[in-house]
Amino acid sequence: MQIGKELYTGKAKSVFATDDPERYVMRYRDDTSAFDGGKKASLARKGAVNNKFNAFIMGKLAEAGILSHFERLLSDTESLVKRLDMIPVECVVRNIAAGSLCRRLGVTEGTELNPPTFEFFLKNDALHDPMINDSHILAFNWASAAEIARMRELTFAVNTVLKKLFLDAGILLVDYKLEFGRYHGEVLLGDEFSPDGCRLWDAKTGEKLDKDRFRQDLGNVIEAYEEVARRLGVDLS
Ligand code: TMP
Ligand code: ASP
Repeated sequence: MQIGKELYTGKAKSVFATDDPERYVMRYRDDTSAFDGGKKASLARKGAVNNKFNAFIMGKLAEAGILSHFERLLSDTESLVKRLDMIPVECVVRNIAAGSLCRRLGVTEGTELNPPTFEFFLKNDALHDPMINDSHILAFNWASAAEIARMRELTFAVNTVLKKLFLDAGILLVDYKLEFGRYHGEVLLGDEFSPDGCRLWDAKTGEKLDKDRFRQDLGNVIEAYEEVARRLGVDLS
């Protein structure tokens, strides 16, 4: 696989062209950001940990019939993915209240949400990823009604699979963010699933094992990601 020019540089990953117009290479960097890029750092090993973590999760989702852009690991920090036409919205499901939900609605962190909530956010750092709903997505033509329905369906399907996967490892899946894209008329899961884009709490102690450790200066950020990976059985070698 020939890696070509860098097409896109995100806050934590870079996307490269390949000799196949239908395939990209995603490189996971150690760069870390929070608050829409307002807080930044480089955390040793993060790129490799998230790359392998994501490969493991995408594999589990594929086994459950949820298809993503992920094809295979290429190196410690690189994966081969399908080229998607990305839909510029973020899909968030919450099982337990935390983060922006607590700030917006004044609810206590840790409140169980049954049924889980579903929210759309516009992917736009300059605007701080504002919350939007179906009508905005349709009015601005970001996705069709069928694509909206599919994103919602897939995001909840991911919850069924991953809530159990994490709970079996003694971890609560508090919330998570997914991004989707179009591939030959299908909506596929894109971007990544790693502790950067979800909240994970130890089921016994409530200890935070995700990017909130970075947001809240709790320390041992990557050590916590590695602990989650170890409990799930992710091969980090
Ligand atoms: P929030 O509580 O800040 O709205 O985030 C909910 C979950 O979605 C949390 O696990 C973090 C994740 N998320 C991102 O990773 N990136 C984003 O841009 C947004 C809006 C949420
Ligand atoms: N992913 C977003 C960022 O890196 C939101 C966050 O994690 O706070 O800025």
